[in-house]
Amino acid sequence: LITAPPLQIGERYFQLYPEEGDPVWGNPCDDVRHQRIWSHNKTCEQLPRFLVIGPQKTGTTALYTFLSMHPDISSNFPSPDTFEEIQFFNGKNYYRGLDWYMSFFPVPKNATARYLFEKSATYFDGDLVPRRAHALLPHAKLVTILISPARRAYSWYQHTRAHGDQVALNYSFHQVITASDTSPKPLRELRNRCLNPGKYSQHLERWLSYYPPQQLHIIDGDQLRSNPVETMNELQRFLKIQPPFDYSKHLRYDPKKGFFCQVVNEDHTKCLGRSKGRQYPPMEDKSYKLLQRYYLSHNTALVKLLKRLGHRSVPQWLKDDLSDTV
Ligand code: A3P
Repeated sequence: LITAPPLQIGERYFQLYPEEGDPVWGNPCDDVRHQRIWSHNKTCEQLPRFLVIGPQKTGTTALYTFLSMHPDISSNFPSPDTFEEIQFFNGKNYYRGLDWYMSFFPVPKNATARYLFEKSATYFDGDLVPRRAHALLPHAKLVTILISPARRAYSWYQHTRAHGDQVALNYSFHQVITASDTSPKPLRELRNRCLNPGKYSQHLERWLSYYPPQQLHIIDGDQLRSNPVETMNELQRFLKIQPPFDYSKHLRYDPKKGFFCQVVNEDHTKCLGRSKGRQYPPMEDKSYKLLQRYYLSHNTALVKLLKRLGHRSVPQWLKDDLSDTV
């Protein structure tokens, strides 16, 4: 038997299996050998049961807020860097490991909420996210919200402008979405953040290559906006949340905000902050037309995907985006 010091064995191992240099965290409770050496203070219940995966600008904060109103549903503790979002499965937080992730969730036996969830809107289009999420949370349910990808792109552009982003302030939306691959890098990056998450079918297929379709719930973002009570009822049915929360008593349309808000009392509502439901000029027609063409193949694939998933009707925004594209 030939052996070597641990460091050398480690080096040799990663020479032989370089792809394993990038960790994929599994669930310690899936293997009795892990469980045996794991601290008794830890529990695999301290993980989310469902994930709201985004994409950004589709109404994810509204959904997060509505879910958090339910006495049996609880999200993670806030992160000092990314506020309500942990953003674990994408980016460098993943390398902080499982303990870091779990520390964001209350230990269930000390908490009242029975349904833990996490919302990170960048998960939707993150290349590595479905694989990593599935390795740790194979039974988690996934919730996504879709709106017109063209309107999502415009909302993201307005969002970056409102945050004082110089590129968004210096270039019109049309210039951003028509930027070429020879344009300056910051402009290309903004273009990509506007356009890429909206290729919905592509991202959903990636999620579906890891998770079975029964674990995925797709919300029509326009319906969430105009009829959140019904949307939340459907979601509660999908998540099998018992007892269901009567959102009709807790959400009311606020004409000043132009959105549904949380009922405080007969005269008052608590709405999302000014950064959600912003006022901005409508998108130029030429930009909308261009985006209709840009997303044509993606939207066509989305219709097929929705049919395959058993959706009986196609969202109105999808029909509109697909109309008059020739
Ligand atoms: P706009 O600000 O462009 O109108 P996210 O939370 O994912 O960033 O999405 C923000 C979008 O949520 C807003 O985009 C707004 O249209 C939408 N939204 C849906 N329901 C809302 C609500 N009840 N209150 C505020 N915004 C809501």
